[in-house]
Amino acid sequence: MTIIVTGGAGFIGSNFIFYMLGKYSNYRVICLDRLTYAGNLSTLKQVMDHPNFRFVKADICDRDAVYQLFEQEHPDIVVNFAAESHVDRSIDQPDIFLHTNIIGTATLMDACRRYGIRRYHQVSTDEVYGDLPLDRPDLLFTEETPIRTSSPYSSSKASADLLTLAYHRTYDLPVTISRCSNNYGPYQFPEKLIPLMIVNALNDKPLPVYGKGLNVRDWLYVEDHCRAIDLILHKGHVGDIYNIGGHNEMRNIDIVKLICKHLGKSESLITYVADRKGHDMRYAIDPTKIFNELGWFPETTFADGIKKTIQWYLDNRAWWEDIISGEYQEYYAKIYGNR
Ligand code: NAD
Ligand code: DAU
Repeated sequence: MTIIVTGGAGFIGSNFIFYMLGKYSNYRVICLDRLTYAGNLSTLKQVMDHPNFRFVKADICDRDAVYQLFEQEHPDIVVNFAAESHVDRSIDQPDIFLHTNIIGTATLMDACRRYGIRRYHQVSTDEVYGDLPLDRPDLLFTEETPIRTSSPYSSSKASADLLTLAYHRTYDLPVTISRCSNNYGPYQFPEKLIPLMIVNALNDKPLPVYGKGLNVRDWLYVEDHCRAIDLILHKGHVGDIYNIGGHNEMRNIDIVKLICKHLGKSESLITYVADRKGHDMRYAIDPTKIFNELGWFPETTFADGIKKTIQWYLDNRAWWEDIISGEYQEYYAKIYGNR
């Protein structure tokens, strides 16, 4: 079995590569990644010399490069993690999101059509469903919830989902789609809530909470997401969408306070800043389908996952110090400077 994992130098893609190489000794895994600001070769250091692993630096929108790779490798499966993934960046500069997330998805699926494939899997997000009100805890996102996006990021991901379903219906491409809630864990780029707060707290810098910090996200440990995708690839129904999440809704402010507590830092570091434009209030996944059909449920509790994650950032300072010393400084000044 040969699998192309796009975006494998990023957060979830790298964790997926580690998971698959650890689980299947006879699978060949090829990572295709453009190495944007979010992709980091040092993340893949532990597998670079693995006999079943190959890294290819290329853009998923580059048709020639993608076709060339398919011609060389004849993959059985493609799992598309490659994307521009940060909502704040999409609000600042939507165009790159449309290009990578939509055109890139179409280019990959064109290659799948041309060279033949057993499965194309699109890694999507619960953000395509928009948001839910805080005062209706009974409401959850199911696979039937209508698409109702809020940000350029979620709109680009929803567009990619629609294209994926269209390629299935029109060309009979064997596709699956997963829509997961917020992930956390090792190797997450410190622009996202949890790693940003850990890194800032460790540096005794202000912890910028948007609005009142009351927005709710449904957190999942990254390894549980990887296991769900593995199950969908092997047992999922072609043409189907699977929601992934684990009934773990938390308010942002409670997460930030928990991080302060774990690190022994004062909550006085918390600074309320101007809210995100179009800020989604609450996400919550109903994972009934993936539980009933594939037997998946989250194995890591938030209490364990957050401890492991914080410990990882403590043990891997060089990884994130290197990131925040570069172009990240300009990003930080731009997003947080005048807030
Ligand atoms: P990330 O930003 O950490 O990594 C994205 C990776 O894609 C990077 O390695 C980057 O170099 C690569 N990439 C970007 N543009 C590319 C291009 N044009 N060609 C090739 N490679 C390119 O993202 P992540 O958080 O790991 O998310 C991975 C996927 O999962 C995304 O599709 C995202 O929408 C989805 N997702 C993320 C979450 C989450 O909580 N992080 C939750 C649900 C779904
Ligand atoms: O739900 C899945 C999505 O989760 C993925 O599709 C996205 O790729 C991923 O980035 C994530 O999106 P969010 O916008 O929910 O994640 P983020 O970590 O950016 O923010 C989480 C919450 O924390 C959100 O309500 C905004 C808030 N926040 C975030 C940052 C970076 C703050 O209050 N302060 C911050 O500095």
